[in-house]
Amino acid sequence: MPMTVRRFVRGPKPLCVVTAYDYPSARLADQAAVDAILVGDSVGQVVQGYPDTLSVTLDEMIYHTKMVARAAQDALVIGDMPFMSYQDSTEHALVSAGRLMKEARCAAVKLEGGSRMAETVLKMVECGIPVMGHIGYTPQSVHTLGSGRAQGRDLEAARRVLTDALDLEAAGAFAVVLEVMPHRLASLITAQLHVPTIGIGAGPGCSGQVLVWHDLLAMPDLGLRHSHAFAQVGEAALAGLRAYRQAVTDGSFPTIAHSVEMADEIAVQLEQEIPGSPQA
Ligand code: KIV
Repeated sequence: MPMTVRRFVRGPKPLCVVTAYDYPSARLADQAAVDAILVGDSVGQVVQGYPDTLSVTLDEMIYHTKMVARAAQDALVIGDMPFMSYQDSTEHALVSAGRLMKEARCAAVKLEGGSRMAETVLKMVECGIPVMGHIGYTPQSVHTLGSGRAQGRDLEAARRVLTDALDLEAAGAFAVVLEVMPHRLASLITAQLHVPTIGIGAGPGCSGQVLVWHDLLAMPDLGLRHSHAFAQVGEAALAGLRAYRQAVTDGSFPTIAHSVEMADEIAVQLEQEIPGSPQA
């Protein structure tokens, strides 16, 4: 039975969240016993090859979330709401989140934005939609946030981020992602909230952490400051692909052991029927 948000709470150990976008990856994440799998709109960058997350559609998020939800047996599955599927009105947010949960069968959704989204989050939660907030650096606002990723570095900005977190919790968010902000601010926010804070580039003082699948497995290794490569999967895959290409081109793969046998009399009969073959 996949986890619901009721079990996604603060405990003695930090919560572990990873993004995944398809069935085999989600199976592995589930087997690794992560607490939650976020089907992030980062799929736009790490899978679809866009420079940002803006082009990802709700239909695409539903497509990816379906695969992950089918794979997860224990982990909480959270579907990310893509750019402009919720920002313009509460009604739109309800329809989009409803589609994600009904069609893709995730147990919760995530959206970006703090205080300005609080009213919408309240309504969603009232309708039975568990919502994870996301503040600090919010990638869907890439064109309004300016060049630096880190948020909340000066006093005014830090106060705003704290207020964002408090407003989301008051609205009923079950957790809040804190992305790329000073670790002291993230620790302070974590101390003020009761719901878990899930950090990415926000230091060790959060209630849990989230990393993007392709970053933590180095597919490829981008050397991101906020991430860490826990395995060199990209290099291993490239070595495997090169070995495969080499074996095909030098004729060492496949051998007849990779195929199936045919009875001698059938092979001989067939060869006799084919004009020009040695048996004909
Ligand atoms: O889309 C995503 O993967 C995210 C995480 C980085 C929090 O929003």
